[in-house]
Amino acid sequence: MDKIVIEGGVPLKGEVKISGSKNSALPILAATLLAEGTCRIKNLPLLKDIETMLKILEFLGAKIKIRKKAVEINTESVKNIPAPYDLVRLMRGSVCILGPLLARFRKAIVSLPGGCIIGPRPIDLHLKGLEKLGAEIEIDKGYIKAKAKKLKGRRIFLGGTFGSSVLATANLMMAAALAEGETLIEFAAGEPEIVDLANFLNKMGAKVKGAGSHLLRIKGVKKLRGVSYRIIPDRVEAGTYLIAGLITRGKVSIKGAISGHLGAIIDKTEEAGAKVEIKKNSLYVENSQWPLKSVNLITLPYPGFPTDMQAQFMVLMCLSEGTSVITERVFPRRFMHIGELNRMGADIVVEENSAIVRGGRKFVGTRVMASDLRASAALVLASLAAEGKTEISRVYHLDRGYEGLVEKLTGLGAKIKRTN
Ligand code: EPZ
Repeated sequence: MDKIVIEGGVPLKGEVKISGSKNSALPILAATLLAEGTCRIKNLPLLKDIETMLKILEFLGAKIKIRKKAVEINTESVKNIPAPYDLVRLMRGSVCILGPLLARFRKAIVSLPGGCIIGPRPIDLHLKGLEKLGAEIEIDKGYIKAKAKKLKGRRIFLGGTFGSSVLATANLMMAAALAEGETLIEFAAGEPEIVDLANFLNKMGAKVKGAGSHLLRIKGVKKLRGVSYRIIPDRVEAGTYLIAGLITRGKVSIKGAISGHLGAIIDKTEEAGAKVEIKKNSLYVENSQWPLKSVNLITLPYPGFPTDMQAQFMVLMCLSEGTSVITERVFPRRFMHIGELNRMGADIVVEENSAIVRGGRKFVGTRVMASDLRASAALVLASLAAEGKTEISRVYHLDRGYEGLVEKLTGLGAKIKRTN
């Protein structure tokens, strides 16, 4: 089992290049199932989750050629066989092959996605939306079995208890792209990754309007053709390095990020006293004061503060002056990182879906264990600011969402190494 060992206290300096977005790449790779011909997807991050999605496509019969940071996918020979549990359970994001398989074959059998440590991951909105398009769906022995004589566009309200759903919107958009007639999706997710998927589908010949807003209008077409497409940069990776620069009191340039995707993150770190300069296609960050101020935070669907940055921002608040209240409105139980942060010297208590973070603390290096992707990123950030050495085990969680983490942090001057 690999471990990461970090000697803390080094201010990070220099520039870091942001990779392609994991959460944009996953639905776009699933959407290649809709194409007649070959798709060439560029700027793919080399991550475990991307590898898993490619394995699922290959298992279904897709022909895949990996080039340098791009992948050529031809799904013409894909057969409609059940997507296997032992691959689907590795990654919740694989549920987004359901819509394309249904659209292409009018039937799909996909394992229910495994549970997830950040809380229950229901798919009721996915299934409700697909049923509205005409699918008959049953759950049988842990598999979703969907079939439809035809998919017919209609008006669908996709909002749930927690507002919009990213992957339910993706699944429905992909199914509607080949459905008969027009589909209106109300309370759709407006994340940049949904816009990226819509742009990819439209390049393939789909007719998707309104991406980025909460109202999507999709006119079904007969077929979609294979195209070349470049994935947008990963806004959560960019936000994570922004916090890394601040928490180590360094000066970091984040190259290749789209600052327009980071509005809420920049707003909150500036409220805490950070100096963030937005340049043409990069961000420069340093502390204008230390300690930073504690600020309260609520996570919301985009363009609100992203839940995927909650753990990372919480680490910064442990070192800020005062007390902050961090409330999760997307995944109310996404606080797996708190136990390990408290072991490193934080003082955080959880009250329902809020965490009360006492600032003015300091982190002391020790042995910790990663638990999920963004909680692991939080532990790396705490270690970079900690006194002494921290050893993080179960780093495979990090491999799911941070390409070249050790190399990128080393490039910024961090004292970090990976051992097994
Ligand atoms: C996507 O997950 C991301 N994953 C998550 O990133 C991200 O945290 C999440 O969106 C929210 O932004 C990918 O894109 C692969 P949701 P998704 O459906 O689509 C509830 C990471 O770390 N809900 O938008 O699965 C759900 O329980 C990962 O990169 C229902 O109630 O999230 C949650 O409370 C973690 N019914 C809320 O909606 C449903 O049918 C938002 O979830 C679906 C979701």
